[in-house]
Amino acid sequence: MALHDEFSESFLQPVDRLAWSATKWEKYRGRDVIPLWIADMDFPVAPVIQQALAAHVAHGNFGYMSTPQGLADRLAGYYAERYGWEIQPEWIVWLPGLVLGFNLAVKACCAPGESALTFTPVYPPFLHAAKTQGRESIEVGLAMETDAAGRLGYHIDFAALEAAVRPSTRLLLLCHPHNPVGHVFSADELHTLADFAERHDLVVCSDEVHCDLILDSGVMHVPFARLMGERMGQSITLHGPGKVFNLAGLGISWAIIPDAGLRRCYRQAAQRLVPEPCGLGYTALRAALDQGEPWRLALLARLRANRELVVAALGRMGLPHTFPAATYLVWIDARALVESVGNPSQWLEQHGVGLSDGADFGAPGFLRLNFGTAPSLLEKALARMEVALAAVRGQIIA
Ligand SMILES: Cc1ncc(COP(=O)(O)O)c(C=O)c1O
Repeated sequence: MALHDEFSESFLQPVDRLAWSATKWEKYRGRDVIPLWIADMDFPVAPVIQQALAAHVAHGNFGYMSTPQGLADRLAGYYAERYGWEIQPEWIVWLPGLVLGFNLAVKACCAPGESALTFTPVYPPFLHAAKTQGRESIEVGLAMETDAAGRLGYHIDFAALEAAVRPSTRLLLLCHPHNPVGHVFSADELHTLADFAERHDLVVCSDEVHCDLILDSGVMHVPFARLMGERMGQSITLHGPGKVFNLAGLGISWAIIPDAGLRRCYRQAAQRLVPEPCGLGYTALRAALDQGEPWRLALLARLRANRELVVAALGRMGLPHTFPAATYLVWIDARALVESVGNPSQWLEQHGVGLSDGADFGAPGFLRLNFGTAPSLLEKALARMEVALAAVRGQIIA
């Protein structure tokens, strides 16, 4: 039996997620719109995680929970094995969410009137974090290029970054791998970024929640902090199993902060405000770390196949798009449609497909498509998009 056969069937069946009010599906309850927007997947969670949760539920007590014994050591082992990064268990600060995690980074690193940098387009809460905390946000566009096959690629525009940084800047918020463009920053880019951060005395907060979702076999995720080496004290790494093991609803994540002083500031920013992670989240995390790998590998195989479905269809539609090296998100340039259809995201909703609106990521006219769903549903959504586009082009020609 092939390695992946044990799980591959489970990725083919759409799950009724409305039964438990999944945000992704609630948005279109009662409407015939296939939801491919918010970043979670429609697949059932790994059986080993379901079993661990079932055992926890059967115990029947859900009072306050401390971090389970040995979990931080286990996590340190995972970083060493998978990413060659030696962390100390005491560097870990447990969190109930990652958006909270980078908001705390802003609060800890920037005083009122100081600023944080972030690259656009980006996962919308990055755009709001500094402003939400009463600090200034500086947005720097990633450089975009289109290859001969019409595929979009993104990288850091260091000249733009140098031009944007101010004396009042204290923090750089990095999304690595990058949501929405699926770019895995190369070691070269990260080295240059580390030099930049050192020169300007910035802390880099790197959200690496998508790092175990690398789809390209030739691409390696390098934790930004590991690459910083001796300069690691200037880093905050955010991570959790929410994306790769589809556990976003369980509120389990963490920050890794090697420098004791920075860690103290971070904890102070959280004090009397931030609750512990969900106890069930700890249980799910332990099961994922200990037994989740075969499922994750099967998932990656499914996602690679889904990525092929999506890019083939977008190619037929003539819409420029990324070929994401990581994540289950494709980023689409629909600006050419704006003149004829108005807002492309709203227009596609009217044709039965719910994609994320690029405007929310700082890029109006773009769309983000989440392909973490059953291929039959994905094919149906892509067919609807093709029909809608053909109709528009027909109207334009007429
Ligand atoms: C890069 C990134 N960070 C954070 C989050 C959300 O994390 P949480 O639900 O733990 O706040 C997402 C969700 O899509 C994400 O893509």
